[in-house]
Amino acid sequence: MKNFIQINKKINNFRNKEIFVTGDKSLSIRFVILSSLAKGKSIARNLLASEDVINAIKCIKKLGIKINLKKNYCEVFGKGLWGYKYKDNLLLDAGNSGTAARLLCAAIIDSKNKIKITGDNSLKKRDMLRIINPLQEIGLRFEKNNGRLPLTVNGSKNLTSIKYLENLGSAQCKSAVMIAALKVPGVTNLKCLPSRNHTELLFKNVLKLPIITKKEEGYDIIQINGLNNFKSFKYKIPGDISSASFFIVLTLLSKNSYLIIKETNINPTRVGIINILNKMGANIFFKNKKVYNGEEIADIHVSSITNLKSINLNPKLNSSAIDEFLLIFLVAAVCKGKSKFSGLEELNKKESKRLDWGYKILKMMGVRVKKIDNSELIIWGNPKLELKNNFVIKNFLKDHRIFMLTVIAALTLGGNWKIYNPESVKTSFPTFLKIIKNLGGKIS
Ligand code: S3P
Repeated sequence: MKNFIQINKKINNFRNKEIFVTGDKSLSIRFVILSSLAKGKSIARNLLASEDVINAIKCIKKLGIKINLKKNYCEVFGKGLWGYKYKDNLLLDAGNSGTAARLLCAAIIDSKNKIKITGDNSLKKRDMLRIINPLQEIGLRFEKNNGRLPLTVNGSKNLTSIKYLENLGSAQCKSAVMIAALKVPGVTNLKCLPSRNHTELLFKNVLKLPIITKKEEGYDIIQINGLNNFKSFKYKIPGDISSASFFIVLTLLSKNSYLIIKETNINPTRVGIINILNKMGANIFFKNKKVYNGEEIADIHVSSITNLKSINLNPKLNSSAIDEFLLIFLVAAVCKGKSKFSGLEELNKKESKRLDWGYKILKMMGVRVKKIDNSELIIWGNPKLELKNNFVIKNFLKDHRIFMLTVIAALTLGGNWKIYNPESVKTSFPTFLKIIKNLGGKIS
């Protein structure tokens, strides 16, 4: 693949098109890790075959678990909760995936030997203290711990159940403690700010584990009884709403277009972007809704809209749209009026500093925008925004979502764009450019 793409033309209108996006990344990584701890052969269909998931698979294979990734399905031969083979000085490389790195640290909490966990240049900049602290309390030992990868960890036989307060609204932190809790005697108690609940749904509906979940004063309360082996399982992974979001915004901001995104996960903890865009005047709706193992799935219908309204977003919605803010900022840039987003500290802790990048890209596009501290963005939208200049997007730590965002900006707002690192889409959405081309997007 060449190291950049060029886009010099808006996409022509498209109507009555149906697309499928690839499988959900969060569910795919959770499938790989949880099936490796199950007893027997588990099978996933529509597993996302992206680099993040493949890196998770490679790490699990190093722990002695056989995995076959075929074209249409993935088989994992789990050996139960205590089935990992801990060779001395293992190196697990999670690549770009924060989810894989953080959940793997939890899965190996009973390791007999030292394990080194590392990742790529982007992942090495990300905070690991958020999972080090609770996992240390449970019994994982960390060496050379400066809160960043590479980390050397050593598990323990003496694991203790804890009471954990999760105050970032991070599903990775919550899930790390939940996965560790599987190997801990007694009841692990979690009190978490709301975040995506895939791990809870899998524990309850698929693994049939004794877990209690309830809501209390704005928190999710979760109680897990440890030391219960579970059976292997079959799972069909639905389309990823985070990947679908790029096509939702592409359609929304194009003229006279209509798109159906088939069989996508519409878990209420993930559809923040749809709720937010509908508040801004979009008409995005679901058809063929069904529930599969606790996860809601539907076809998403979206059409172009010209008179979008600005929004003053309640930060309580942030977590349900945490990976979609770059797209929401782009929509705010073409809305009538002033939009305000706050409580966004977590955005600068993603694969790249996404709050800073959102600000920088809008500024490049000539949009009036103000960033306050590390957490707020105010955008004065311009419904007549038409881009004519040259734009070069590079040095973004190969953040897949920065790449895809700028492709959508180029195809909907015009200008001459040179966007580096197209290979970054392999992290989460390998078919992204192919779908763009099928819808008529011209990319050279
Ligand atoms: C994820 C949780 C979110 C999200 C990430 C995937 C998950 O991260 O940004 O892309 O699969 O649990 P945080 O938990 O750090 O918010």
